[in-house]
Amino acid sequence: MAILDVNNLEFSYGDKDLYLGAELKLNPGEHAALVGINGCGKSTFLKLVTGELRPDKGTVTWQPHVTYAYLDQNREIDGNLRLDQYLYGVYADLFAKEAEMESLYAKAAEGEYGFEKLLERAAKIGDQLVEADFYALQSKVGAVIDGLGFPKNTLDYPLSKLSPGMREKAYLAKMLLEEKDVLIMDEPTNFLDVGQVAYLVQFLKAYPHAFLLVSHDESFLKQVADVVFYLRAGKITRYKGSFDHFLEQKELDLAQAEKNYIAQQRYIKKEEQFIAAHIVRATSAKAAKSRRARLAHLERLEAPSKEGGEVHFRFPYSRGTGRNVLEVENLEIGYEAPLLSPISLEIPSGSKVALLGHNGVGKTTFIRTILSQIPSLSGNFRFHVNADTLYFEQQANLDLSMTPFDYLKSFYPDYDNVKIRSVLGSVGVRGTIAMRPLSELSGGEIAKTKLAPLTQEKSNFLILDEPTNHLDQKAKDALFEAIEDYPGTVLLICHEKDFSDDLVDFEILFS
Ligand SMILES: Nc1ncnc2c1ncn2[C@@H]1O[C@H](COP(=O)(O)OP(=O)(O)OP(=O)(O)O)[C@@H](O)[C@H]1O
Ligand SMILES: [Mg+2]
Repeated sequence: MAILDVNNLEFSYGDKDLYLGAELKLNPGEHAALVGINGCGKSTFLKLVTGELRPDKGTVTWQPHVTYAYLDQNREIDGNLRLDQYLYGVYADLFAKEAEMESLYAKAAEGEYGFEKLLERAAKIGDQLVEADFYALQSKVGAVIDGLGFPKNTLDYPLSKLSPGMREKAYLAKMLLEEKDVLIMDEPTNFLDVGQVAYLVQFLKAYPHAFLLVSHDESFLKQVADVVFYLRAGKITRYKGSFDHFLEQKELDLAQAEKNYIAQQRYIKKEEQFIAAHIVRATSAKAAKSRRARLAHLERLEAPSKEGGEVHFRFPYSRGTGRNVLEVENLEIGYEAPLLSPISLEIPSGSKVALLGHNGVGKTTFIRTILSQIPSLSGNFRFHVNADTLYFEQQANLDLSMTPFDYLKSFYPDYDNVKIRSVLGSVGVRGTIAMRPLSELSGGEIAKTKLAPLTQEKSNFLILDEPTNHLDQKAKDALFEAIEDYPGTVLLICHEKDFSDDLVDFEILFS
């Protein structure tokens, strides 16, 4: 019996129907991925199964007593809690048991009446603690903390003081420790670096229970999924097997659907011709009428139209920047103490460079230093005099009440409405999406909006911090092409090896 059973689901925002009787059954222990293009309704689906939203029609049924954890961004937590308290809080009941056991032993030691009973009870609790692996907790929590790359000194930080990315990882860490029957995760790799994704892969592969996760990171999905749910045009299709198998099978299914559709269209046309020709003839009118009745009852196949609209990026180029666009000499970066040993490097003009290193190692601090957003501690850096730098920031503080239209207009007040709509349209932000507040858009829709201004500004040095986050495969391919075609220099931070490996000329590793 399925632990989660979604039946005949319908839900709409305004007049946009996201599901047309979608079905999904998750079995115990299944490692499942839910995939589909940007804006097709994956995140909304997770909100529906976790009860944050209610279906318009259909049912979501959890098997009784099944426990799940849901990684969403806006959960309420007590920001005063220290990171270690938050994580060890998972085992609050075990710590309570330990305390009880210790107090029983203490009472027994005082020689209280009936101390044998006390000892017996204490021993029983001790057994339960051993059974629950209580004494391995330290190393269990430690492994997750290391795996997700929390620096040791952050353990006693209050959660409110962690960076948004770190806080995201704190939720993830807690979830991994909870060992619920089902983990429900929406794009869990977005805040991780390459090594941390590898850790998460190992963890999930070995996870003894079920999970249902949404991700656009195909190399991640290839490693963790053993069943794929494909959400397309309001329906969910189940593909048992690896993600590679899904990719193959999906193509075959689409080709077949295309064939069936064309065959049916031909048949309909032939029948209609027959009916038109014979309906007025006395000898064959009867046959024509019965064929007409049959045709009227025929269940018409829908055209398996191409999914979603086209997405196109192009980054306009300004001018040359000599031999090197940037030279860095013994640069020390950080806030009080240097984060890294002094950095010296040259970035040749026109090169595509990946900047690698653990989250928190100082990649963003480096970028902010060379952009003069924060002072350096010592050393020098020098841009070529002609350098026109553009920075795509991962955590730009967006005003979520703005629409994509407002957002782009704030950069280009001179653009008329048609121009604004056409720029947004080319990056795939079309129709009503362009006019709704960002708070009501999907992750991919927001990411595309954030990329739009980059397609308007002439530059010769792009600094891109995790530009692939939230983008579906089609949009990622478009971004890849745009970077490849760009004659300028690109400094790229990206945890998706598949994307950056084929793109960059060399890597800079901070460690
Ligand atoms: N509160 C809302 N009000 C109106 N429309 C919404 C709201 N939230 C989401 N939508 C729309 O519903 C559609 C589905 O959104 P959802 O976030 O579920 O997509 P998704 O599949 O998770 O996409 P992505 O891959 O980009 O994260 C999108 O077109 C989005 O703009
Ligand atoms: Mg989403």
